[in-house]
Amino acid sequence: MADRLRLAIIGDLHIAVSREEADARLEIDPGRKLHSLSVELAEATVQAVNAAEDIDAAVILGDMTRDSELFNHEIALQIVRKLNVPCSIVAGNHDMLRRRPEHSRYPGVEILDRNDFCDFYRGHGLPGATTRYVVPLPGDHTLIVMDSNLSLDELRHEGFEDGSQDDGFVLADQLAWLEQVLEHCRDSGHVPIVAIHHSIMDHSPAEEPNHILSRIFRYWQVHEAGRLRELLQRYGVRLVLSGHIHAQSVNVQDGIVNLVTSAAVSYPHAWRLLHIEGGICSVESQLLGSLPSVRNLQYASREWMNEGMGGMIREKVSGVPLLAPLAGRLTEMVERSGWWPRFSDGTLGGFRVDPALVPQAGGINGMAIRQVVNVLDDYGRWKSERPDPNTLRIRLRD
Ligand SMILES: [Fe+2]
Ligand SMILES: [Fe+2]
Repeated sequence: MADRLRLAIIGDLHIAVSREEADARLEIDPGRKLHSLSVELAEATVQAVNAAEDIDAAVILGDMTRDSELFNHEIALQIVRKLNVPCSIVAGNHDMLRRRPEHSRYPGVEILDRNDFCDFYRGHGLPGATTRYVVPLPGDHTLIVMDSNLSLDELRHEGFEDGSQDDGFVLADQLAWLEQVLEHCRDSGHVPIVAIHHSIMDHSPAEEPNHILSRIFRYWQVHEAGRLRELLQRYGVRLVLSGHIHAQSVNVQDGIVNLVTSAAVSYPHAWRLLHIEGGICSVESQLLGSLPSVRNLQYASREWMNEGMGGMIREKVSGVPLLAPLAGRLTEMVERSGWWPRFSDGTLGGFRVDPALVPQAGGINGMAIRQVVNVLDDYGRWKSERPDPNTLRIRLRD
């Protein structure tokens, strides 16, 4: 059919090669990012996309490296250039200069900021000069690539703290640019598909403003996402692709599907294939099964995530006076329930903590435990009300 398009979506690569003395610093994100396998994972993802049939184009959803180090970008570029199809790169929060504590920074390495990033990937994922741009795709589709990041200078200029660097922003000038692009799409009869690193709506109950964890999880989606959605809705945009969360997720709001694809570097190492025909888009989710060095990748990585996130939870919980004495037992509960991997691979719908795993305690400790269990269960309830991306049929054109 004339409007046919097959688009591959690749999540955050976070290339982080080993540099002898700096190896210890690489492992600061236990469970969330398999930095030590990042090159193999990116290579395997590119190979899988190249092996799929009739792909027209690919989009990489940002966070190319650990912290925008030139030596990591050089490896990322070599891998990107192996793609057999034209590729578009979305800028992520790790694709520009970042504020890091001294102990977790590579000493004396060159870091790319936004302009260097544009120059570096010019002609190999970026058109050059800008990280927001438009790509015409087969079947009268237009990919609109946005940049939801602020550099350190821009943060300061806008009155935000350096600590907000993981947050997403779409400021007035980008909204004005987007409106012009959408007008052009409407006038030329092109179907717009938007790609943006941060999500544009909730992907967990903890992002709702009154949730006890909202301050932790608000960095997942762009600030004032409602303003962006209002504009997208006004121009009939139905599909927005995001990365950043490192999880398979989908939500629908204001008639817009926000499809989040997991990072290549994180369990479950997924990429997605959009098949669009007759104005309808369907989504196939593909998981990497093995790597040259890890035969049973899904099993090994799931275990690694469970263990790594468990360690992180233990550390966080130990800092909360009420929960500190329960840290070990709470960590064991979360680990044994497999909550994190299920959140990441998109199978958390219907989750409830097995009562046999809940530590027994009375008084104030008992109340604290119940609150933790409620938060975990609430995710299961929330996720069960969201569609399954693999059975979604997204109508892109009326
Ligand atoms: Fe990321
Ligand atoms: Fe990110």
